[in-house]
Amino acid sequence: MEILREPFMQGFIRLTDDAFRKGWHERNGGNYSYRIKPEEAEAVRAAFSCGRDWQDIGVEVKNLAGEYFLVTGSGKYMRNVILDPPANICIVEVDETGTKFRIVWGLTEGGRPTSELPTHLMNHSIKKELTGGRHRVILHAHTTNVIALTFVLPLKDEVFTRELWEMATECPVVFPEGVGVVPWMVPGGRDIALATAELMKKYNVAIWAHHGIFCSGADFDETFGLMDTVEKSAEILVKVLSMGGKCQSITAQNFRDLAADFHVTLPERFLYE
Ligand code: 13P
Ligand code: ZN
Repeated sequence: MEILREPFMQGFIRLTDDAFRKGWHERNGGNYSYRIKPEEAEAVRAAFSCGRDWQDIGVEVKNLAGEYFLVTGSGKYMRNVILDPPANICIVEVDETGTKFRIVWGLTEGGRPTSELPTHLMNHSIKKELTGGRHRVILHAHTTNVIALTFVLPLKDEVFTRELWEMATECPVVFPEGVGVVPWMVPGGRDIALATAELMKKYNVAIWAHHGIFCSGADFDETFGLMDTVEKSAEILVKVLSMGGKCQSITAQNFRDLAADFHVTLPERFLYE
């Protein structure tokens, strides 16, 4: 199948396999979407079929009208995508009002896009606007250590950001804007989509308490790398806490010195004593 040889398709599929091997995607856990470039959509348009019904997205994403997204299927397993992409992923088109979508390719054995489509599309909408179209990838995963931390740390952006930064010197360089935390909410709907999108106005990482994480990035490498960095930092923190906690760490002043040398801006609200 020609469409499967396209670089964006290959890049998307490679990430599903990498992320599964990381242990981020038990069963059908997690989901993933890519905002397809116009020229990429044009190159595969011959493979589209427009016979399937328009359905409500559940949120309004006006600035995504007419755009195409490559998305994982609901209930589909990330580990199976590489074996049979057309059965496990799909391309959806957003209608001219930004309130409906239809499947134009994929899910050949039936099904629908991920139940988190409202959150994915809301995040894409915000990021398209705020990054001038640069961000194209949204990844949701059930990262073990990040989830574990949501049971022991206060569910505050300031605490999660500072604790994760302290666990690896590179962290404030990789996510200088910090991370946001959504308290536990029912997944799969409009409310959690709106709460997540609110955080995505400030951050590229939104943690869902007792559930998982969403990351946004410009491309597959950047988004995967961001999630990998956050989850590794969380793993170090889980180990440190399990060993009895910190005896010493990176200080607020250390972060200020790092910010100056690495030319990043670290918000002062994360640099409390
Ligand atoms: P889907 O199988 O519908 O993508 O749901 C998995 C998930 O992680 C929900 O948050
Ligand atoms: Zn989930």
